[in-house]
Amino acid sequence: MLDIRNGIAVITLDNPPVNSLGHALRERIVQHLDAAEADSTVRGIVLAGSEKAFSAGADVTEFGTPRQLQEPILRTVIARLEASSKPVVAAISGVALGGGLELALGCHGRIAQEKARIGLPEITLGLIPGSGATQRLPRLVGIAVAHGLMSSGQPQSGRQLATSGLFDDVVAGDVIGAAAARAAVLAEKGAPYPRARDGELDAAEVQSTVAAQRAKLTARQKLQPAYGALLDALAASALPFDEGLQKERELFLALVPTNAAQALRYQFKVEREATKLPPAFQAPGREVRSIAVIGAGTMGSGIAISALDAGLAVLLLEQDGAALERGRQRIADHYRERVAAGKLSTDAASSNEARLQTSLEWERLQQADLVIEAVFEDMTVKQEVFRRIDAHARPGAVLATNTSYLDIDPIAAATARPQDVLGLHFFSPANVMKLLEVVRGAKTAPDVLVTGMALGATLKKMPVLTGNAFGFIGNRIYNAYRRQCEFMLEDGAWPEDVDNALTGLGFAMGPFAVADLSGLDIAWRMRKAQAATRDSRERYVSILDQLCEAGRLGRKTGAGYYAYVDGKQVKTTDAAVRDVIQQASSQRGITRRTLALEEIQRRALLAMVNEAALLFAEGVASRPSDIDVVLVQGYGFPRWEGGPVFWARQQDRTQLEHDLQRLAEKAGFGFTLGDLAPLLST
Ligand code: NAI
Repeated sequence: MLDIRNGIAVITLDNPPVNSLGHALRERIVQHLDAAEADSTVRGIVLAGSEKAFSAGADVTEFGTPRQLQEPILRTVIARLEASSKPVVAAISGVALGGGLELALGCHGRIAQEKARIGLPEITLGLIPGSGATQRLPRLVGIAVAHGLMSSGQPQSGRQLATSGLFDDVVAGDVIGAAAARAAVLAEKGAPYPRARDGELDAAEVQSTVAAQRAKLTARQKLQPAYGALLDALAASALPFDEGLQKERELFLALVPTNAAQALRYQFKVEREATKLPPAFQAPGREVRSIAVIGAGTMGSGIAISALDAGLAVLLLEQDGAALERGRQRIADHYRERVAAGKLSTDAASSNEARLQTSLEWERLQQADLVIEAVFEDMTVKQEVFRRIDAHARPGAVLATNTSYLDIDPIAAATARPQDVLGLHFFSPANVMKLLEVVRGAKTAPDVLVTGMALGATLKKMPVLTGNAFGFIGNRIYNAYRRQCEFMLEDGAWPEDVDNALTGLGFAMGPFAVADLSGLDIAWRMRKAQAATRDSRERYVSILDQLCEAGRLGRKTGAGYYAYVDGKQVKTTDAAVRDVIQQASSQRGITRRTLALEEIQRRALLAMVNEAALLFAEGVASRPSDIDVVLVQGYGFPRWEGGPVFWARQQDRTQLEHDLQRLAEKAGFGFTLGDLAPLLST
């Protein structure tokens, strides 16, 4: 849209909802610019967006299609703005992200709203900015600030960037008016107009900053080509502008086809899909303003914090006064630490804490729209708790269990309203971890599921629907993976070989370090409970049980798979653990051999893929991609590898089937081989 007021042409980007820079919009910008330049009554030009969005950047639906490369491409549009015979000022309100910000960088001036969100999120998609930001931004704000914005991918507000040099001014009110005034001033002064490309940069500072940042790259960042490429592009900002721009383009184009960029784009898409229920479950949800959490332990207090942060009223209920007090204290400490760290204002913390009530009186449950149980992982205890909930909760309240493994149907059956019961499986720490498995019981009503998914969104989590099966999606796959890793210990690897291979692939932690962190006794207890029903012909690795019997319960006892000195993990397993492992190998008649890194990685991934095929066939996951979302969001699976299903799709199918067959043979009795076809073709 082009509108001329007092000699200033306002070009308004009009591609709702977020002004993504698809081909049609790019074409219109150039046409309006041509018209404004040709109009002798126009002195200056303002480029504006909507209240909500200046522009959120590239049109993701164009990715990989010829349209993305059809002229005018974004770089052409930016070059046209920059070369305009009349000054162009960007008026930024709402979001200016990625290509949207690059567009503004091509203008001769920029005015931002205080609340505008400005950022370059390309790195989160495995890319770097490809239309000049790596060259223009450092010339405006300096290399350090530019690097910070691009390497974090996190947007900042106009207010935060007010003194950075990015904007001519940051305003609270009429941004278009301020931009028009600025355009008039520039017109008055006459050409040449200020251009980001003409900014001075100190080449030595660029080089030293880039070198320092390169040395700081984490192991996980080094596995993602975009981080190194970003530094290469920023280093090129010390070159003459056009050479730097060319270099940026080459680096950008080389990243587009990388596995990491494809995987991250895939995750971006499937994370959004996962939060939507399949059509069969569409129904209006129930309103939730107040929740009750039963059990003030690790999970209960984390869930309470998450709900308080989201503005809900929370009643925390316990059986035991001391446990209640510990929970209340944990929540108070949490808020005190966040305030001390400058992450939360005192007002916000006290407003959150004011919405918390703690009690030992079950009658109080009546006030809750939704009740979440987080007591001990024991069927009898949970059924008793649900009987009491049933006696006190108001009709129509949603009743949830945070069980990790238990069957939710007998829990629901302890109430007279099983249709109102579902599983809400949070991950520890519950106020931090994004994943929320929303578990559907046999009788769960659709509107209860909808309410569970909506609560996930309210809590800013990633809710994923799962069927009611042992371990749901995540723990079930994780168990298969951990079991395979235990096989590898018996076959010849040491815990550090397995852990290093998996962190080398990008996992946040290896399985044995994770087990030490969460405590080996959790698994031990479950193994003992399952012992009676376990078939003796199954390959069962008893290393963990023996460590527990020796009092090595993990980090909390100073020793598990690893020893801990002053809280720090000793990197090599000690002789006592090696003895236990060696004995296990010899009892199974295995001659220990060295396992290559690639073998460890592949076997761990194959075990996950096989379990994914099984649980998809059983209907536990409603979409294969949901499995990838769960593993990435809840289990430290490297996001830039896309998840086990994405990984499997990249493999040669014949080889994959052959390797899975071998995996089944090695596992021996009782190992079920999944059918890959439905998993990989859906
Ligand atoms: P926890 O032992 O830290 O806390 C349990 C709390 O429940 C205790 O404070 C206890 O006093 C209270 N409680 C026990 N029986 C009760 C009753 N009848 N009425 C009221 N309160 C009662 O346990 P945690 O780790 O918080 O686990 C709770 C649930 O969350 C379990 O079902 C567990 O499987 C599940 N979970 C645990 C995760 C973890 O990483 N710890 C992750 C996801 C789920």
